[in-house]
This record gives sequence, structure tokens and C-alpha cells, in this order.
Amino acid sequence: MVAKNANVSWRAPAPVPPAYAAVLERAMQAHQARDLDTAERLYGEVLELRAAQPDALHYLGVLMHQRDRSDEAVRLIQAALKITPKHPDAHNNLGNIHKECGRLAEAEACYRRALECGPTHYNALSNLAFVLEVQERPDEAFETYARLLREAPTFAHGQYMTGLFLRNYAQNVEHVEQSIECFREAYRLDARNVRALEGLGVSLYTLGRHDEAREVYRDWLQREPDNPIPRHMLAATGGADIPPRADEAYVRNVFDGFADSFDEQLLKNLDYRAPEVLADAVGEVLPAADGSLDVLDAGCGTGLCAPLLRARARTLVGVDLSGGMIEKARARGGYDELVVAELTAYLQEHPAAYDVVISADTLIYFGDLAPVLEAAHSALRPGGWLTFTLEVLEGEGDRYELSSSGRYRHTHDHTQAVVEAAGFEHITIGMDMLRKEHGKIVSGWVVLARRGGNDMR
Ligand SMILES: C[S@@+](CC[C@H](N)C(=O)[O-])C[C@H]1O[C@@H](n2cnc3c(N)ncnc32)[C@H](O)[C@@H]1O
Repeated sequence: MVAKNANVSWRAPAPVPPAYAAVLERAMQAHQARDLDTAERLYGEVLELRAAQPDALHYLGVLMHQRDRSDEAVRLIQAALKITPKHPDAHNNLGNIHKECGRLAEAEACYRRALECGPTHYNALSNLAFVLEVQERPDEAFETYARLLREAPTFAHGQYMTGLFLRNYAQNVEHVEQSIECFREAYRLDARNVRALEGLGVSLYTLGRHDEAREVYRDWLQREPDNPIPRHMLAATGGADIPPRADEAYVRNVFDGFADSFDEQLLKNLDYRAPEVLADAVGEVLPAADGSLDVLDAGCGTGLCAPLLRARARTLVGVDLSGGMIEKARARGGYDELVVAELTAYLQEHPAAYDVVISADTLIYFGDLAPVLEAAHSALRPGGWLTFTLEVLEGEGDRYELSSSGRYRHTHDHTQAVVEAAGFEHITIGMDMLRKEHGKIVSGWVVLARRGGNDMR
């Protein structure tokens, strides 16, 4: 028994966690494990237990964006920020959603707000530098990347992003040399980021330090003998035999990874025009867009050609090796069928099935074009049209090469010869601007050719 007035020291009782806290924790665990259904249900439970709980609103917003419901995502995170306006993560995540939806000015404003609330939020700083870069404000981007390196030298992702920026926007040799340091540091700080090794190899090669570039890929391959990227890049830098086309595992690996960061990559390629250029080229020779043609989008990627071809197509089929890219194409819509398959094999298995085969920036992963063009010829009905782009290899002669970027380039003469040899007629090979890279125009061959005969609908 304690006397009434005993000198008891009362300890404040441990705060009882609110009922929603355990549910929120489970929701976040499920979210991190990418179990979006469970996470969504649990965030909903949190919001029933405690209306407008800001963390649940914020993370449910992130989840909605992952489900391609970005408008809802923005509304949820803005609601969270009304309650906790100084939350740097929420500002940063809202910025990411705007960035991935292409609203760069809004994204920039969010990252700046994140930095006002949390000046050491280095993810936000790196994101800010990136959106300045893709808004083609290289001086401000340069300043921001420099600040990132100064303030956060051990932030691996920052080193990597700065390395890419310095190489892509290099004004002089020193910038490429600095990019080498950034890539080395990025990899030293986070050995999971093997992309830093690819960056390192490309920068070394750019500076003419070919042996060192090959050494990077050889070391990497020794550590990861099954990884198709260093194998392909070793060939691309002259350290191994050139494959007739990019290995299927390489294409899958690159493009499945690319699909995840597709929206970001697209921002870097705002002026990507290959689909429009091809659709215009083939549009000149096709009958009116009366929805009567069977069309194949060969190497459809995320489906950028679909809206340009839909009106002409009775059926529109997309084929691609990368399941990740096909998923993006499915989300975009417009196709009657989407198939994950290797292109040459697919074409061989579909004789006389198509009136049009269009292939934007896909045959740049083929060195020896003969098999794929012969297969395209056989997949077309008589009178059908093939159109595709290639990267330009300057100069005369019947040549192609695998460049240090990992893509193939073909000369005009080679292209003409191989399209003719596949049996096509009415061949035209023009040159057009296909995209801008780091402020510079990249032109490509634009090929249009017809299978003889006349069976077109
Ligand atoms: C640069 S993307 C272009 C995608 C799309 N055509 C566009 O213009 O946006 C190249 C695409 O070709 C695909 N690809 C490369 N080699 C292939 C092959 N042998 N068979 C099928 N698809 C291939 C890749 O997976 C990738 O999606």
C-alpha cells in the first residue's frame, strides 16, 4: 500500500500507440515488398481508423501513381501536405510524379520546396538537377550537380547522376575525366549500381582510353559471367567478336530496366520523332486511313507508334522481346494483340500476314540485317510495305559496325544492298532528324520498301 501523500515519483505512462499505427506499419511493409493490393487495402484501413492520416494519404498517393492513377496520386499527396506542409519526402514524391508525367516546372517547384523543408534531402537535390538538365538549362543543372557533389560526396546516386551529366554535356576533356571519377566513386560507394561501370566504360572509350574501357568490361564479366551487358559492351569496344545482332538476354536486360525508368528516359528524349517520321513516310504510299490494314509494330517498345497507326489498322499487333516494354504498351493501349517474342522468329512464323511492318529504332540492335529483312519480306503480303529506321554510319562502302554505345550503325550502301537482296522493290532511303541527345540533333536512315505484287487491301 502506498500512503496517500507518499513522495512517489510518477513516470509518465508510455504513450499507447494509436490503433492505426500497427496497420500503417504493415501497409508500408507490404508496399515496400511491392504487394500493392495488400498495401492499398491496409492504407484504406488506416484512413478508416483515422481520417486524413497524413502518412497514409502520402503513401497511398505514391501507390496510386505506381498503378498509373497519377491524378489521384497528386490529390492524395496534396491532401497530406495540407496537414503536414513541411514534409520534404512528400514534396519530393509529389515532384517525382509531376516529373514522370512530364510536368517539369511543377516538379522543379516541388523539389525546391522539399529542399526548403529539408536542406539535406539529397534525393530532392539530385532530382532538381535532373529536371533542370531535361529542361535544357545546363548551366543551372551544372551548378546544382556541383552543389550535390560538394554537400553529399558519399551519396552514390548523386555521383552517378553527376557522371552522366558531365559526360553528356561535356564542354571539354576535363568534364569527361571528371565523369570517370564520378562513376568510379558511385560504384565504390554502391557496388549494386553496375550501371556506373557501364558509364565508366563509355567515358573511358570516349576519351580514347580503349584498353581501359575493355578492362572495365572484362573485370565486370569475370565477376558476373552470365551478365549480358558487359559481354555486349566488350564486343562494342572491340574486345570480343561482334555478334550478328544484340543478344536476346542483352536486349531484355536493357529494356526491362529501361521500361521502369521509361518516363524519365522519355524526358531526355523529348524530341524523339522516329515513330512520327515512319508513320508519315508510310502514310504517303498507303491508301486512305480506312481501318483496313493488318499492321505489325516490330519492336513496339512502350507503344509510341500505336496512336499513329491505329486509324489505318484493321488489326494492330505489337511484338517485342522485352516483357517490361510490352507491359507499358499494354497500359498505353491501342493494340489488338501484344506478343513477347524475338522479332525474326516471329516474322518467320507469320508468312503473308501483314500489309504494313513498321519498326522504329529497333533494327539498330541488328548488325546483320539480312535474316530479319528476309523474314519481314515473307511476313508481308504482296504489295505490302516495310518501313524502319537505322543509325547512320557515315562514308561509302558496304559496312556496318557495333558502336561503343552498344547499338549498330549501317552505311547507306549497305542498307540499300541488304534491302534489295531481301527481295524488296521501290526502296527509298532518306535521312531525317530522329531525336535530340543532350541538345544535339541525331539523324538516322529512314527506309521505306515494298514487297512486289499487289494484294494490298
Ligand atoms: C529503342 S526501342 C524502340 C521502341 C519503339 N519502337 C519506339 O519507337 O518507341 C527498341 C525496342 O526493340 C526491341 N528489340 C530489340 N531487339 C529485338 C529483337 N531481336 N526482337 C524483338 N524486339 C527487339 C527492344 O526490346 C526495344 O523495346
